[in-house]
Amino acid sequence: MSDRSVTATADDGAPDVGELTPPDRTLMGPGPSDVHPRVLQAMSTPLVGHLDPSFVEIMDEVQELLRYTFRTDNRWTIPVSGTGSASMEAAIGNLVEPGDTMLVPTNGYFGGRMKSMAERAGGEVVTVDAPWGEPLDPEAVADALATHDPDVFGFVHAETSTGVKQIDVPDLTAAAHDHDALVIADAVTSIGGVELRVDEWGIDVAYAGPQKCLSCPPGASPLTLNDRAMATVRAREEPARSWYLDLSLLDDYWGEERAYHHTAPITNVYALREALRLVAEEGIESRWERHRELAGALKAGMEAMGLGLNPADEYWLPSLNAVRVPDGVDDGAVIDHLLEHYDLEIASGLGDLEGEIFRIGCMGYSANPENVIYVVNALGETLERLGADVDAEAGRSATLDAL
Ligand SMILES: Cc1ncc(COP(=O)(O)O)c(C=O)c1O
Repeated sequence: MSDRSVTATADDGAPDVGELTPPDRTLMGPGPSDVHPRVLQAMSTPLVGHLDPSFVEIMDEVQELLRYTFRTDNRWTIPVSGTGSASMEAAIGNLVEPGDTMLVPTNGYFGGRMKSMAERAGGEVVTVDAPWGEPLDPEAVADALATHDPDVFGFVHAETSTGVKQIDVPDLTAAAHDHDALVIADAVTSIGGVELRVDEWGIDVAYAGPQKCLSCPPGASPLTLNDRAMATVRAREEPARSWYLDLSLLDDYWGEERAYHHTAPITNVYALREALRLVAEEGIESRWERHRELAGALKAGMEAMGLGLNPADEYWLPSLNAVRVPDGVDDGAVIDHLLEHYDLEIASGLGDLEGEIFRIGCMGYSANPENVIYVVNALGETLERLGADVDAEAGRSATLDAL
């Protein structure tokens, strides 16, 4: 062995960076959630090439597992390389052509991101309004569809910024289809944790992220399109503006041919496969039920402590609990205290709800009884310490009773 390979000398400018030792946090924020140990293990297995026959088989398996999780038979169901915003931009950037009109909601942060992406795709954007903290009203959607006659209608199934679940989805999709509009659903914070039925509910395109209720690191993000949506993509007059996310090109890799388009993030695909295998083992409906039960215990604890949830029960989102900040405390101080003293991550509000709510996730592997008890105790103790008028003990008992 040559001696030349070895140690960096002190004076060659090499940065002196130590071994990786991230803190051991409990992730109960809006995502990422704690990753399942089996997923971490899958990520440490050796790479194969992205065109290796064994990887082609893995791709098929991931597609099959994704169809199960989305509750769809859509042939065109893939993980997009990148975070949830990549699958989001793949959906919007391929369906919206210059001159097309897209109807988007204004009731949360991610409706705003839909707007930005549709504009960048060259679309005209029109909006349907609801206050932050409320779902869209099907009548308002029907009116907006009648007024604007859009080509595409997008809505957020689980709004991470407000903790609101969009209810009445089949009514929204039926209204859109009456006007020949294609429907795109943001399912980033619902997939694998909250009831989502792509085919039964008439959703044409749904995109998601792996780092929430699937408890998988970000990097490969689920997307599904039905035949009608894919036909629209193929019939575009001009190519999608993003080469990387052009679904008609990605078809060469994920479709029959399995030809090179870009080097797939192999490790992330392994991770997603394992995360989805966990979904299949648990059963999708049991998994939705687990999220409802555990987040229900968390909610009971918050309410017994004296903290209200921001959304009404009817559209409460189990995977993301928007808890109102009590009078007299600074939300940032609470969040910092939890991180510093409990190694616990929760988040503050965004946009119209900044300073008004805490956002407490209950997602995937993080949605377990120990974590729920931990977050209720830690938040109760912290709020009492910082002078808020809450009853931490009542919160703790209510959560334990509910569990
Ligand atoms: C509802 C929703 N849509 C889209 C995104 C974007 O995903 P990412 O941050 O993984 O790019 C997020 C991320 O939190 C989200 O919560």
